[in-house]
Amino acid sequence: MPRTAYVNGRYVPLAQAAVHIEDRGYQLADAVYEVWAVFGGRLADAEGHFARLQRSLGELRIPTPMSRQALTTVLKEVLRRNRINEGLIYLQISRGVAPRDHAFPAEATAPAVVITAKPVDRAATEAKAALGVSVITQPENRWGRCDIKTVGLLPNVLARQAAREQGAAEAWFVDPDGLVTEGASSNAWIVDRNGVLRTRDTRANILRGVTRLTLLDVIAQAGLTVEERAFTPQEAKEAQEAFITGAGSLVLPVTRIDGALVGTGEAGPVAKRLRSLYIERARATAI
Ligand code: PDD
Repeated sequence: MPRTAYVNGRYVPLAQAAVHIEDRGYQLADAVYEVWAVFGGRLADAEGHFARLQRSLGELRIPTPMSRQALTTVLKEVLRRNRINEGLIYLQISRGVAPRDHAFPAEATAPAVVITAKPVDRAATEAKAALGVSVITQPENRWGRCDIKTVGLLPNVLARQAAREQGAAEAWFVDPDGLVTEGASSNAWIVDRNGVLRTRDTRANILRGVTRLTLLDVIAQAGLTVEERAFTPQEAKEAQEAFITGAGSLVLPVTRIDGALVGTGEAGPVAKRLRSLYIERARATAI
């Protein structure tokens, strides 16, 4: 079935979907994005992603192109036209099209909106999660506003490629204090050697992951405790378990860090339990 994208008010076959060469997202990475997991044709953690989108737009002073209600309608129409039941949906909003100039364009410039969606093979991702994945560490080299979800992802691209070249699924950034910040496209967690769940606090220069936030609630509901406290790669290597969270990875066990086995080297029981609790919650609350 040919895939369909949404581009600035029109649904177009993916092969013909294009933006203007002077789109500021294309030329200057002057754009924000969001990614929702899709369960049963519905948007997971919808509210959290909409709220963060609004915040990203506000921080960059990009006008809101359409109401949340209208955006929800369009997102769902893209899912419908692509017949996506289980998958991911991507939204990008740039500051629009204007002759190249670093400063903002004329106020009347309309933001440019692009939406694409793709199916996910849940059986395949569950099999991967059951085994766990490897991560490597990389020096933190991103700008100081990683709380804004912008398409300026070059350090993330290079970090992820380094991971791939070393047979790993994700790269964790390590800041100049020697502390893990987050992954190239995920938040980082451990169950430390004392059995304490830990993830970096959001005063640090990290993305406020929506999956992370929901999982904090899931953890509380499950009667577990968690500390929003930084950890070093060494602590992670000595941890009982490690895992990552994100709209793409959901909750994904990590079994190796820089080649060293985490715990027994198998996907940990806490991570596996949290994965199933998270998916259960996300399915039940998807809209
Ligand atoms: N990435 N940290 C970074 C740098 C991310 O890019 C992401 C998400 C996360 C997790 O956030 P959330 O739980 O809200 O998805 C953390 C998306 C999935 C991506 O770039 O494809």
